[in-house]
This record gives sequence, structure tokens and C-alpha cells, in this order.
Amino acid sequence: MADLSINFAGIKAPNPFWLASAPPTNSGYQVMKAFDAGWGGAVWKTLGVPVVNVSSRYGSVNYGGRRMAGFNNIELITDRPLADNLREIEEVKKYFPDHAVIASLMVESRAEWHQIIKDCENAGVDGLELNFGCPHGMCERGMGSAVGQEPEVLKTIVEWVKEVATTPVITKLSPNISHIVDPGRAGVMGGTDALSLVNTFKSIVGIDLDSYAPYPEVDGSGSNGGYCGPAVKPIALNMVKELAQDAITKNTPISGIGGIENWRDVVEYILLGCGSVQVCTSVMHYGFGIVREMEAGLHQFMDDKGYNTIEDFKGKALPNVKEWKDLNLKHKVVAEINDEKCIGCELCYIACEDGAHQAIGLSEVNGSRVPHIIEDNCVGCNLCSLVCPVDECITMVKRDDGTAHITWAERTANNDIPTTFDDKRAGGIGHYVPEPSLALKNGRPKK
Ligand SMILES: Cc1cc2nc3c(=O)[nH]c(=O)nc-3n(C[C@H](O)[C@H](O)[C@H](O)COP(=O)(O)O)c2cc1C
Ligand code: SF4
Ligand code: SF4
Repeated sequence: MADLSINFAGIKAPNPFWLASAPPTNSGYQVMKAFDAGWGGAVWKTLGVPVVNVSSRYGSVNYGGRRMAGFNNIELITDRPLADNLREIEEVKKYFPDHAVIASLMVESRAEWHQIIKDCENAGVDGLELNFGCPHGMCERGMGSAVGQEPEVLKTIVEWVKEVATTPVITKLSPNISHIVDPGRAGVMGGTDALSLVNTFKSIVGIDLDSYAPYPEVDGSGSNGGYCGPAVKPIALNMVKELAQDAITKNTPISGIGGIENWRDVVEYILLGCGSVQVCTSVMHYGFGIVREMEAGLHQFMDDKGYNTIEDFKGKALPNVKEWKDLNLKHKVVAEINDEKCIGCELCYIACEDGAHQAIGLSEVNGSRVPHIIEDNCVGCNLCSLVCPVDECITMVKRDDGTAHITWAERTANNDIPTTFDDKRAGGIGHYVPEPSLALKNGRPKK
């Protein structure tokens, strides 16, 4: 059976499944319960000068039938005294010496950083995570994302931390920035041992249509919060990829965070270069037990693919994530409908007709309307296969023979790209587009 244990920047853990710094790591009780359930590490709820929180604190985007597809909070760092947290950290480490306990920290002055690091290391933490991400409340006080958005300040604080830290330092980045590589590089220049991302995205999840206050509502008002959960995973994956491919940050271990809910999510983050993952929202939604599915699924995946350790497949997807200009323009796929699976819902027809390339026709078969692909019109955009509610009913099939290969970069080098507004080398030249008047059922606009 595959070995799931990791050594992440010098922090050892029985597996890569860590709890992110958040309510599930608020107390020793919760962290012990999580370790008992199978989690390999926990980043403690951010420690600092304890805060005062508001009530209520959370909002969500419920999409379709799915609750908490996106999750929003206006909570701050820990509201518990440092001494209580340190005592509980010490106790957790006694019961679970081989699990990773990481202290997430957020303080202001150099002296405070030095003091809290010593306190946490004395309590037995295996590593430190610097919270430069909180996009609400703490940033108004010059901490959290206020630091994450200022690479120079971030670098200085990492340097302060490295002056005294004897355990590995993970710098947790804010995604509320145009180029994630800038704070990532600043962390590396400051001497961080690892990076983690993402913290939450500055957000408003909705407005109450009676009180006109944003959710979550606090006595008739609200504030922007931090967004996370499944909805943010694609953006987080891209940020992870950017750091994993950047010349300066690519050799620094990355802990991936954002919308992780099951073993597939875990594998995707590892394939993009992560050495551990952290989870918050899905634990707040379903509890610590979700780690069992993650563990079983990861084991099965690794056994199926013949991987013995996490390192064996870490970053394996990175060579396939290219710039657009390096994709093969000669690759050609078209949609194919499996008539036996089709339930005749016509969603594909509507989507292609109104939102794509008018490449699906409807034929009358035994009194029913049956969709068929008009191959000449199909550009292979995937839309119909994405909207079709039946699995594998619409598949994309390859139509090129694999021999031709030309990229935009190569065409540019060959001076073979459209350069004028009417250039005959444009991709759409010769492709069928219906006459505008064909849009009008009766030949004239509706009154
Ligand atoms: C209610 C709540 C509180 C959080 N508190 C912290 C915190 O104290 N420190 C921190 O670094 N991140 C905090 N986070 C951010 C999470 O650690 C994590 O980075 C983010 O939620 C993305 O992961 P997810 O999509 O699995 O939730 C918090 C998130 C939530 C939802
Ligand atoms: S792949 Fe795109 S263009 Fe082709 S049939 Fe489907 S929706 Fe239409
Ligand atoms: S969306 Fe799928 S099931 Fe519905 S008509 Fe098209 S092919 Fe058939």
C-alpha cells in the first residue's frame, strides 16, 4: 500500500491532509478529535492579541441544490487567550507527537513576532504559519491582507520571523492581489521555508432585500468578508500553478488551500505541485469524517497509478499547463451524441444555438425531436457536452490525425498571423454563420 506520509519543508506528518487555520482548529479538543479521525496535521486558529468578534459571522452562496458552494466569513483571529491555546497545543503534542501542529500567527511589531514565536515553539509546535491573508477586520488594523498586499512589508516581517524561528516557517498568502507571484517571491526572498495559499477572497455574498444589508448581517449592517469553499478552488489552483512554475518560487514547498472537499481535489493540488493540503469549509460543512474518503481515495489513486509516495506524482501536471500561445492549433475535436443515452431534453440544442455555433440540428424521429451534430459547424467548444445532463452522452471525439502541429507562437515567428481587421488568415474565415434575418421566426421583429 502507498505511503502517504510527508516531510513538508521539514515538518513531518503521517499524511498530507491538514486542517487550515480556522474554526475547526480553534481548540485542543477539536484538533485531537480531528487527528483521531485521521487528519495528519492542523494549523491552529491564528494566534495573536485576542479579538472581539461580531454576531452573526457567516454567509453563503447556495447554488442550485448545493448549500455553501461558496462560504463567507467576517470572523477575526482567535478570541481566546494565548496561554490557553499554548497549554492545549502542548497537550495535543503529547498525545500526537507524530502529527503536525502548526501555529498560525498574526501580530504587529517585531518584538511581538519574536515573543509569540518563542512561546509557540516552547509549547512544542512543529512549524509556524504567518497569516498575511485576512481580508477583513485585521487588515484595517494594518495586519492580514494589508501585509499580503505589500510584498516589501511581507518580506520584512518574514525576515523578522526568521531571525528567531527554529521551526519551519510557512508564509500564507492573500489571494487579494493581481499577481500572486509578487508576494510569493517576497516571502522567498525573506527566507520563508514554504508558502501556503489561498486565504479568503474579499467578498460580499449577497444583500438582504428587506434590510438592504449585506450578509452576514450585524444589527442592520454588514461588512465585506472572506470568501472560500468549493467556488474558489479554480482560482486557487491557478495561483498555486503560478507559484509552482515561477523561477524564484518553484523550489519552495507549497501547501494548497481552497475548496478542497474530496480526494480528487487533493490529487489535483498535488499534481500542481503542492506537498500538503489544508481544508476549512468542507470540514465546517461535513465534519472531520470527510478525511476517511480522502485517505481511501488517495490510496486507491496511488495504487492504481503505481505511486509509492506523494513525491512520486507531485507537480506531474505542471508540464501540461502551458501558455495559450504554445497550444496546438491543429488539434480538432467535434461533439458526438450517443443516441441511446439521449433523453431528448434539447439543452444541448439550445446552448449551441444561442450560446455557441448553431452546430446542432433537430430531426423528427418517430414523432420526437432528436438532436444531431452538424460537424461542419462544430468548432469543438465543449459547451453541449458540459450542459448535457446525461453522463457520457455527448463526448468530444478527435478529428485530426495527430500529424499536424502549429502553435500561435510558431505562426507568429513565421509571420503567419492575422494582422489587419479583414485578414484572410482569421480563424473564422469560411466558417458557417447564419444570416441575421434567419433569427426572426416570422421574418420580422416581435412587436
Ligand atoms: C470562518 C473562517 C475563519 C477563518 N479564520 C482564519 C484564521 O484565523 N487564520 C487564517 O490563516 N485563515 C483563516 N481562514 C481561512 C482558511 O484557513 C482558508 O485559508 C480558507 O477558508 C480557504 O480554504 P477552504 O476553501 O477550505 O475554506 C478562515 C476561514 C473561515 C471560513
Ligand atoms: S461542441 Fe460547441 S459548437 Fe460543437 S456542437 Fe457542441 S456546442 Fe455546438
Ligand atoms: S443535452 Fe444530452 S440528453 Fe439532452 S438532448 Fe442533448 S444530447 Fe440529449
